[in-house]
Amino acid sequence: MRGGDGKPGRGPKRQLNAGYVVGGLLMLLTYLVAQHFAVSSPNVVITEAPRIVDDVKSPGETAAAVVSREVPQIVDNTKDPGETENGKVVCNMEGRSDTCEVDGDVRTNGTALSVTLVPAASWPERHEWMINPYSRRFASLRKVTVTQLQDRAAAPPCTVTHDMPAVLFGVGGYAANYWHAYADILVPLFVASRRYHGEVMFLVSNIQFRPRWLVKYRAFLQGLSKYDLVDMDGDAQVRCFPRVTVGLRLDKELSIVPELVPGGRLSMPDFTGFLREAYALPRGAAASLAREPEKKPRLLLIHRGHYRRILNEPEVARAAEAAGFEAVVTELRGGGDTPEGEVEQALDHLRRQ
Ligand SMILES: *[C@@H]1O[C@H](CO)[C@@H](O)[C@H](O)[C@H]1NC(C)=O
Repeated sequence: MRGGDGKPGRGPKRQLNAGYVVGGLLMLLTYLVAQHFAVSSPNVVITEAPRIVDDVKSPGETAAAVVSREVPQIVDNTKDPGETENGKVVCNMEGRSDTCEVDGDVRTNGTALSVTLVPAASWPERHEWMINPYSRRFASLRKVTVTQLQDRAAAPPCTVTHDMPAVLFGVGGYAANYWHAYADILVPLFVASRRYHGEVMFLVSNIQFRPRWLVKYRAFLQGLSKYDLVDMDGDAQVRCFPRVTVGLRLDKELSIVPELVPGGRLSMPDFTGFLREAYALPRGAAASLAREPEKKPRLLLIHRGHYRRILNEPEVARAAEAAGFEAVVTELRGGGDTPEGEVEQALDHLRRQ
């Protein structure tokens, strides 16, 4: 079914459950509606985010390489002051993603694609982690070597020193796909960097394989970072930072787990709020049935003809109408050059109905 073939939902009434609709639809507008419900969701019980960047790990513990974010904060009064000066590496190898949070005297080398923690004094031994800078560890991107040096002697000298923290991530993987772009990079990047309010630098690897990606999402990236991003693979500098987050965490597909957000809770309404800000969208919410009961919210069901099809598309559209939407089925062609372009194209289809 295509847009212009007539409205779906004229067929026989069917009783389809709402899960059918939610499971079957891949589109923007449901998403906007869904976040509406997310706001009032009563089932989030934890009110304070556990801090992950805590000074609780001795060097030996850090070496275990698996440090869960769910570990509650422990107040360690016995900590050696030298430990703080030495900085620390906290890596999380659980779930779909591998990430490290490196704090202290941190130095990056783009040519080597390495992130090195240089201790003030010395550690008993050297440690190394290989981190995929893409949030799904099986994606074929060059890995980042994260090293905790044993002492300062082996440290590369800084050629540039930055005051702000950095987040290192790779573009590529599955991110040419719109859904993956959001699920794998944009939402995790928002989670990793929103806490810095723009005072963060993005170090991006693998750009040469996805040259258009950063152009397409420029407005989004500029909303999160005030600074020009660094093309890591071509970066001849040794950059020094007070903190570098290596890799992005995908906690939940196209979603945020508020308790796992570093630096304070965030949820999907924060994300969509940020999108509105970044793209200067005028409206704060999708249509409200409470305010305008006579108006049906329009729902755009994107027709896909290639890799994944919704085999029962007419039924899905009817179910959406039964759930109170005015459903519009349409095909988006050629993926716009920018998300604005794609959304504009989608809205155009909606308006024409
Ligand atoms: C970065 O690492 C590469 C490869 O190990 C090395 O050849 C190069 O000298 C390093 N760059 C700097 C500026 O130290």
